[in-house]
Amino acid sequence: MLLPEGVLINGMTGAVSPETGKYTKRLSELSEVFQDRAELDRQVAEKGDPIVYEVVEYKKEGSDIFFGTTTMEPGNVNGEYYMTRGHFHQRRDMGEVYYTQSGHGVLLLESRDGRTEVVRMDPGVCAFIPPDWAHRSINVGDEKLVFVWVCNVEAGHDYGDILKRGMRKLVVDRGEGLILVDNPRFAD
Ligand code: F6R
Ligand code: ZN
Repeated sequence: MLLPEGVLINGMTGAVSPETGKYTKRLSELSEVFQDRAELDRQVAEKGDPIVYEVVEYKKEGSDIFFGTTTMEPGNVNGEYYMTRGHFHQRRDMGEVYYTQSGHGVLLLESRDGRTEVVRMDPGVCAFIPPDWAHRSINVGDEKLVFVWVCNVEAGHDYGDILKRGMRKLVVDRGEGLILVDNPRFAD
């Protein structure tokens, strides 16, 4: 029988206690995600391949749901803010919840038929991600962005589509603050 449990989450650091797994993504692992790959390589060499984000999870064998945190560092590659890979779920009938704890971000969403939506990620905002919307989180602040996510264990990740063709929109700062622009590399 599964037993209930209280899990301590630190909204400033993303620490989860107890945790059952974690991984980090460094800048060199995200080279397909950013536009300016020469600048990305330069940063990797200069900064020693910085961590862009860390994911920590709490998952119980036999449970239907799991949850965890994603902690994103601040930074950008030639004006393109640090972001996650972005994905659809393999299960097209399963959505997700992102509850922002600290920092400031943008959740960029894209429906299967190409509609773009944006939800601000500010402390206290609990974002509803409907089934079959690709989602990518972007740290647009100058501190860590920490959010709690809750998902069905069977949702799965489909990274292929977004990696191959990109998302239709980019969130960038070209010197005048945050704007949404068309992705010149988007391949339909
Ligand atoms: C799970 C989910 C999050 C992300 C995490 C990293 O469905 O949406 O836990 O997996 O924020 O983002 P990706 O997986 O896009 O690199
Ligand atoms: Zn997801």
